[in-house]
Amino acid sequence: MHIDHIGIAVEDLEEAIATYEKLLDGKCYKRETVESQQVETAFFQTGQSKVELLGATDPDSVIAKYVAKKGEGMHHVAFEVDDIHAELERLRSEGFTVLTDEPRRGADNKLVAFVHPKDNHGVLVELCQSIS
Ligand code: CO
Repeated sequence: MHIDHIGIAVEDLEEAIATYEKLLDGKCYKRETVESQQVETAFFQTGQSKVELLGATDPDSVIAKYVAKKGEGMHHVAFEVDDIHAELERLRSEGFTVLTDEPRRGADNKLVAFVHPKDNHGVLVELCQSIS
C-alpha cells in the first residue's frame, strides 16, 4: 500500500491548475471529468505520488458542497491497493465505515472507494486499485 495521490478540493479549477503548475514547477499531465461525481480532476505527478485537484462541474456536486462548507483544501488521501475488494472487506471487519457498498469507477482508470473520516481521525481515505 502506498500513497497514490492527495485530493485537493478547489473552487476554480483553471486558477488552481495555474497555481499548482507554479508551485510544483511542472505541468498538469491529465484532466478528466468524472460525470457520476460531477467533478473535474487535474493531475500532477510528484515523484511516486500525485496531486489530484478536484473542481465541481455542478452546484450539486459533493465537491461544491464541501468547498461551500469547509472552504478549499485537502479533501482526501488515496492509498493504492492491489485488491480493493479484499481490502474493503478487511477494513469493514476492523469496524471502519466504508462509504460505498461497491468500489466504483473513479478518475485515472481506477476503482475507488472511500472510508469515513470519522474513523480516520478526520481524514477522508480513498482506496484505489488500477484497472488494467
Ligand atoms: Co482521489
